Amino acid sequence: MATKSGEGFSSSFGAIMAAAGSAVGLGNIWRFPYICGKYGGGAFLLVYICFVFFIGMTLMMSEFVIGRRTGEDPMKAYPKLRPHKPGWRFVGLAGLFTCFLILAIYLVISGWTLNYFWESLNGTLAGIADGDFGVHFNDFASSPFRPVLFIVLFLVFTTVVIIGGVEKGIERVSKLLMPILVVLLLVLCVRSLTLDGASAGIAYLFQPDFSKLTGEGILAALGQALFSLSVGMGVMIVYGSYLPVDDNILKTSVWITVCDFAIAVLSGIAIFPAVFACGQDPTGGPGLVYQVLPMVFNSFGGVGRLFSIVFFLLLSLAALTSAISLLEALTQWLSNEKISRTKSAVLMSVAVVFLAVVASFSFGDGIWSGVKIGGMQMFDLLDKLTGTILPPICALLTIIFFGWFMKKDDIIDELSNHGTVKIGYFDVFYYFLVRLVAPAALLIVLISGLIN
Ligand code: TRP
Repeated sequence: MATKSGEGFSSSFGAIMAAAGSAVGLGNIWRFPYICGKYGGGAFLLVYICFVFFIGMTLMMSEFVIGRRTGEDPMKAYPKLRPHKPGWRFVGLAGLFTCFLILAIYLVISGWTLNYFWESLNGTLAGIADGDFGVHFNDFASSPFRPVLFIVLFLVFTTVVIIGGVEKGIERVSKLLMPILVVLLLVLCVRSLTLDGASAGIAYLFQPDFSKLTGEGILAALGQALFSLSVGMGVMIVYGSYLPVDDNILKTSVWITVCDFAIAVLSGIAIFPAVFACGQDPTGGPGLVYQVLPMVFNSFGGVGRLFSIVFFLLLSLAALTSAISLLEALTQWLSNEKISRTKSAVLMSVAVVFLAVVASFSFGDGIWSGVKIGGMQMFDLLDKLTGTILPPICALLTIIFFGWFMKKDDIIDELSNHGTVKIGYFDVFYYFLVRLVAPAALLIVLISGLIN
């Protein structure tokens, strides 16, 4: 199916790199380790694996099917599949709205990351005394101008890639950056694992402590699985519309999911042993990579600066390919015959930067930190909405549509490339997941997490 822009990925490899680029992001390297630490390490990991492979991957395949079948953006794809029920477009809209919020908070954190990359390069971080990293982070993140500067810089990189196009922008950048990212991460893992006392970090990550795994923890695992795979919000519908017609959706989805999961675990392996070896607190929360890791790097002596540069570069690149996918979904939706791709990308960037700046101003002791909605600062509210609450809701609506309102024959036809790819009994298993397991799991976890 030709997409409306006529653009698409040139090969399955390119598609996998682009979608894995979307999936692998701050969620894997910044968020996964601290959430995993908070909710019991290994116990959380077990629940997380189940959610990633049974629910997250199911959703990814569903979104790919919807996208490639229709060749449309999420707002048009749903009504195209259910022509007499245009109301389904609101599922697409809810997803895109969530993407907008995610992109805003993503920009704030990417801005911090870019700043830390810069401060590693110019030696600022190396000159900070151990006890002062918390203050340094808070002073920086709460200041009005510097974070905004880096937010805008990061957004400019993102927008330029989008303007470059699907194949020549997104695909090309992802094919270049993803392998670099894996190499950088492996370097950090080796360093971390060879430190004295590294085993305590590994034990922390892998030994299950079920006492810390609450209902809230299970909801967090689900939210994290969806967020990390970039599913439920329509981004994979957009990327699905760019998939080559002969691409094997099942295989592609398995590759992306395995990549995303492996990189989350490798990030934990890179971070926790180092944190333990330096006697730091592993439950440092969102500040872990900004307040604790620089201290860990400094304790390595001279080479620490190099590792610090490598780490923050890695995080910036991971964030970039994810931000690209979010902006692409919004751009593809806005662009049509009247508004060009370039104009749409710029308009969306301008719109989202306002929300990002508000979030930045309201972080910590920022100039708007006093402004609260429902007792929460804007930044915390956005984090909660985009990390925990909205993804499961959007995912639930998507999977209900897919399992209960789309024709099974159409689904299997698309999944098997019109019967040319052998999928064996997978269709039976997959349909069971789509129709019963995924919706039930999403519903139960969502309700129990919200009333807790
Ligand atoms: N998956 C990315 C991460 O782990 C974030 C992300 C990119 C995302 N695109 C998305 C999350 C679309 C939800 C929907 O950091």
